[in-house]
Amino acid sequence: MGVDKLNGMKRTHYCGEVTTADIGSEIVVCGWVQKRRDLGTLLFIDLRDRTGIVQLAFSDKTEKSVFEKALSVRAEFVVMAKGAVKQRESVNAELKTGEVEIIVEEFKILAKAETPPFEIVENSGVKEELRLKYRYLDLRRPDMTEALVTRHKIVKAARDYYDRNGFLEIETPVLIKSTPEGARDYLVPSRVHPGAFFALPQSPQLYKQMLMLSGFDRYMQIARCFRDEDLRADRQPEFTQIDLEMSFVEPDDVMAVNEGFMKYVFANVLGVDIETPFVRMPYREAMEKYGSDKPDTRFGLQLTDLSDLLAETGFKVFAGALAGGGSVRAINVKGAAKTLTRKEIDKLTEFVKTYRAKGLAFTRLTEEAASSSYEKFLSESERQAVRERLGAQTGDVLLLVADSKNSVVFDALGALRCELAKRLDLIPEGSFQLLWVTEFPLFEYDEEAGRYVAKHHPFTCPFDEDIPLLETAPEKVRAKAYDMVLNGCEVGGGSIRINDIELQRKMFKALGFSEEQAAAQFGFLMEAFQYGAPPHGGLAFGLDRLVMLMMGKDSIRDVIAFPKVQNASELMTNCPAEVDVQQLRDLCIQLDLPQA
Ligand code: AMO
Ligand code: AMP
Repeated sequence: MGVDKLNGMKRTHYCGEVTTADIGSEIVVCGWVQKRRDLGTLLFIDLRDRTGIVQLAFSDKTEKSVFEKALSVRAEFVVMAKGAVKQRESVNAELKTGEVEIIVEEFKILAKAETPPFEIVENSGVKEELRLKYRYLDLRRPDMTEALVTRHKIVKAARDYYDRNGFLEIETPVLIKSTPEGARDYLVPSRVHPGAFFALPQSPQLYKQMLMLSGFDRYMQIARCFRDEDLRADRQPEFTQIDLEMSFVEPDDVMAVNEGFMKYVFANVLGVDIETPFVRMPYREAMEKYGSDKPDTRFGLQLTDLSDLLAETGFKVFAGALAGGGSVRAINVKGAAKTLTRKEIDKLTEFVKTYRAKGLAFTRLTEEAASSSYEKFLSESERQAVRERLGAQTGDVLLLVADSKNSVVFDALGALRCELAKRLDLIPEGSFQLLWVTEFPLFEYDEEAGRYVAKHHPFTCPFDEDIPLLETAPEKVRAKAYDMVLNGCEVGGGSIRINDIELQRKMFKALGFSEEQAAAQFGFLMEAFQYGAPPHGGLAFGLDRLVMLMMGKDSIRDVIAFPKVQNASELMTNCPAEVDVQQLRDLCIQLDLPQA
């Protein structure tokens, strides 16, 4: 049997939108066959489109040819049906359209389908590789459809909100100049200029600053960004930002507009009320209390510094860490002595080791007795002082990390508190905790490069009172930068930019650029700044992350239509892929790769 043509028949309703108000009317629906149930003289088809499912009904009253055609369909056939909407005898409470069905009079098969490699149902439990290879089928699943519908609503909310606040959407180029700093660039060879390359933008940063110089005052863009970096659950090589920039502003102004956006998008898309203004937490405090510059404040398990109590300790592990300039810090896991058995603690020890901690010292205060890996090495007064500072009580578990590098202690305990919260089920469902992290250091030391690098980017403005430190103690300079953190994830980040050419020169110098290097890389910027640069600043949200968090998903791949996998390839089209020799010749590129 061939397939039918539309022949002028037009859809009147989406499947999921047929209601009891339509009872009695003739309607036309189209979609994919979810399921066919054959009960002899009765036949039912669940028909699915992006809005949901509706039941088609056939019986001995149906014209024979129509009944037979319906009998021939299988899952995922594309069909069209015309008929009258009727009240259903047995209501299906699980279905939005569960009170009605369509008594089919006319029926078309528009396309046949092979049996798909997996069933098109919610939470299919299918391996992600298979889902991504057949992404077009995966996207038919209701949870994926919902994710993309919600993503659309969030993007629309962004455009509406920023438009109402005077922002203009302006596109910036995707083929740009490669500049140092930041992640690795994706390069695009130029055919017209053999040996020369474009880079794909890691963000529209410089262009949006130029737009401020041009006087556009408020810019926004839904911008695609590319970074050749290692992937994680919340990182893709190609991702999308809600990017914006404003002139004549200070940090408070940028923060206020973007808090307003959060309030707007949560109210409009999820119906959730977000309280503003958000808490602002200086970077230092975030590290000290949460071991992270993106603290998850949905649960406690804060860090406590024990270093001063152990300054004289004879325990070599702690003494060594302190002598090396590091610290000893701890988490008191309240009431967890029963759950955190020795075996569990061993697993947690392995866990912190992945963050370069050398060990995890513990005290378990069970009803019966205290067992500890380190207390025997401490003096009685040290033991007591530590327990007291941690507020230790029967039932608690104390977990300590010591290291000569504070960053290791913070990383390990910061990750441990999140891991504990998951294992002990301490994260309240459906809660959204938003805050700003402020007062970031302007620089961080890059061990590999052996020099300071910009923590944010080289155009970030230092605190006015810290400018004198640029030359004497760069590590102490704070930046007018701010990150927005949602449930322990950095959803957005930005800063006030340098608009003073002299200060920008000092900044490049502190970063170890020679005058010539700065001129070669950023000459156009330095030149532009000579022609009247307004004070400006901005921010970019990671759209994918925002959608992921708003939808309670664990991976940004679940909110991107066609994402890349861990090794930065795309499984549906199988790319990156080799290209034709002629294409390489056009580009004057010769491959000299070792044979695999
Ligand atoms: P930044 O590099 O912090 O700032 O990026 C802004 C936001 O983008 C998201 N993000 C990512 N999301 C998915 N995959 C990635 N690989 C990825 N990298 C970043 C994060 C992050 O907060 N031009 C500046 C912004 C500014 O200063 O205005 C910038 O790009 O949520
Ligand atoms: P040791 O004397 O090396 O056997 O260590 C005694 C206890 O201290 C063991 O429970 C170790 O796991 C723990 N420990 C070792 N190194 C560290 C460290 N860097 N931080 C916290 N605890 C550690």
